[in-house]
Amino acid sequence: MDFKLTEEHIMIRDAARDFANSELLPGVIERDDKQEFPTEQIKKMGELGFLGMMASPEYGGGGMDTVSYVLAMEEISKIDASASVVMSVNNSLVCWGLDTFGSPEQKEKYLTKLTTGESIGAFCLSEPEAGSDATSQKTTAIDHGDHYILNGTKNWITNGNTADFYLVIAQTDREKKHKGINAFIVEKTWEGFEIGPKENKLGIRGSDTHSLIFNDVKVPKENRIGEDGFGFKFAMKTLAGGRIGIAAQALGIAGGAYELALKYSKERKAFGTEICNHQAIAFKLADMHVSIEAARMLVMKAAVDKDNKENYDLSGAMAKLYASKVAMDVSVEAVQVHGGNGFVKDYHVERMMRDAKITQIYEGTSEIQKIVISRSIING
Ligand code: CAA
Repeated sequence: MDFKLTEEHIMIRDAARDFANSELLPGVIERDDKQEFPTEQIKKMGELGFLGMMASPEYGGGGMDTVSYVLAMEEISKIDASASVVMSVNNSLVCWGLDTFGSPEQKEKYLTKLTTGESIGAFCLSEPEAGSDATSQKTTAIDHGDHYILNGTKNWITNGNTADFYLVIAQTDREKKHKGINAFIVEKTWEGFEIGPKENKLGIRGSDTHSLIFNDVKVPKENRIGEDGFGFKFAMKTLAGGRIGIAAQALGIAGGAYELALKYSKERKAFGTEICNHQAIAFKLADMHVSIEAARMLVMKAAVDKDNKENYDLSGAMAKLYASKVAMDVSVEAVQVHGGNGFVKDYHVERMMRDAKITQIYEGTSEIQKIVISRSIING
């Protein structure tokens, strides 16, 4: 497979790298410490076109391919995984989902604001008892003719408070199980919609994660996405693409930690020489480099599959499973290379190690990716 980047790809990657270094790096430690959302930075990302990269230009999107998107995700994630999760959810789940399955009216009303960053989106599937087991939705949306009445609670919602528009998955007919699930666009300001307290997280602390409570929220019928009963497929199809974005995020965290470890090992001296001259460190760097390059191949393969309109359920799950393990392993080793300095905040790698963990959990845990992969290889 040819992964040769075009001039445009390189331009996008470099623009994302420059932005990350000039706008995200200053203050990233403080934002993590204070759990502060990167409001100004996300606004600028919207202005630069990083929030609706793959969406149709007709609705304000960049009309770019998935390869461009993963390159930008990787660069942003090398510096600030809290900013890149906002980017990932807005691009892969919200904008892509609406662009692909929304009605022209929904796109006009919502997508045009989401692609430019004027508004931020959230994707609401997980519940207290339906995280991995996504068919067990307890949130209900009862049909009342021209509208639905939405009730229930969603958990661990990225952009929980900063979002303006929420794609909410709910059960409309329990008898029909997953075929009785629908997806709705819900506005923050609607009566009965309450935002729960912010989660105090191990990593990606600059992003805001909340539970959401819906108490008799009236949702107009025109805000249902697709045909009646399409909601579960909508969620699965959207998440399949989302996993490529998170795989790119994991690749970026690994790459960022590796670059810092390499630089540090060339500067820090012990036993009379720079520590990169000791095999104990050099072999770690070799292992990190190889695993990152292997993860990159899987991420690119999944992105190219999506761009070529081939099935990417398997390649996306493989990319996410492997890249997230690499992010975890490499960031732990990067802390080790830094020794005592790795354990303090100023050197960034301890944050990257904490941020890496979520890539093995959200948008389907590693165990969920193994379900998708094993089913695909067994059933074809
Ligand atoms: N594309 C299209 N349809 C799909 C699909 C896909 N990728 N995957 C499944 N489906 C369809 C199946 O074909 C089936 O439809 P039919 O009955 O018509 O054939 C239906 O969906 C049910 O599929 P399964 O029988 O495979 O369902 P399951 O109950 O066994 O679950 C699962 C499959 C893979 C475990 C799924 O539940 C899953 O992905 N769970 C994890 C959910 C998840 O990722 N949660 C994360 C929350 S979002 C998040 O983290 C965002 C954030 O904030 C960052």
